[in-house]
Amino acid sequence: MAWIVIGYLSGSWLAAISVCRAAGVADPRCAGSLNPGFSNVLRLHGPRLAGATLMLDALKGMPVVLASKLMALPISWQGLIGLAVLLGHSYPVWYGFRGGKAVASALGVLLVLAPGVAIASAAIWALLAWRLKTAALASLMSALAAPLVCLWLAPAYVGVVGGLSLLVVLRHWLNILRLRRGEEPRLKGP
Ligand code: G3P
Repeated sequence: MAWIVIGYLSGSWLAAISVCRAAGVADPRCAGSLNPGFSNVLRLHGPRLAGATLMLDALKGMPVVLASKLMALPISWQGLIGLAVLLGHSYPVWYGFRGGKAVASALGVLLVLAPGVAIASAAIWALLAWRLKTAALASLMSALAAPLVCLWLAPAYVGVVGGLSLLVVLRHWLNILRLRRGEEPRLKGP
């Protein structure tokens, strides 16, 4: 139980807010898509700050998930701890429970639990984001692809990866509505 709380608390730190504050630029919760995540930081402030956001959001949950794996906790517990990291990012206690969409934090958790799936999902995201210039569509497609890739590369983790993907998809419900209306903002640097 303590590991789940630690996972949730570590996920609750939002890199986008700290990175933008440290750089003295606008808070991503106040501009663009209003999402405190790397895609909105990329849209608003360019690749340098977006890269830092992506890396820190991915890294923040890795130690606790790695600890659960090294202690050989059951896969279901590893998954719950990973899910706690994503729930922290999505509903952060430090920021009034208004967080992000958990794409980068899911990448970090996956890198520990099923590295091949993480790399494949990141490659799918990058390819689709480059081709479609729409971060949310890339995130949704890679979240849907992850459990399928997992079936092939790490079948023991397919339930866990399915759970993480479901949360990521649910966190994109506003994007899905905007995509249906053709109003989703495109990705481009400043
Ligand atoms: O990384 C989150 C992404 O999938 C959507 O973000 O800012 O385009 O709503 P955004």
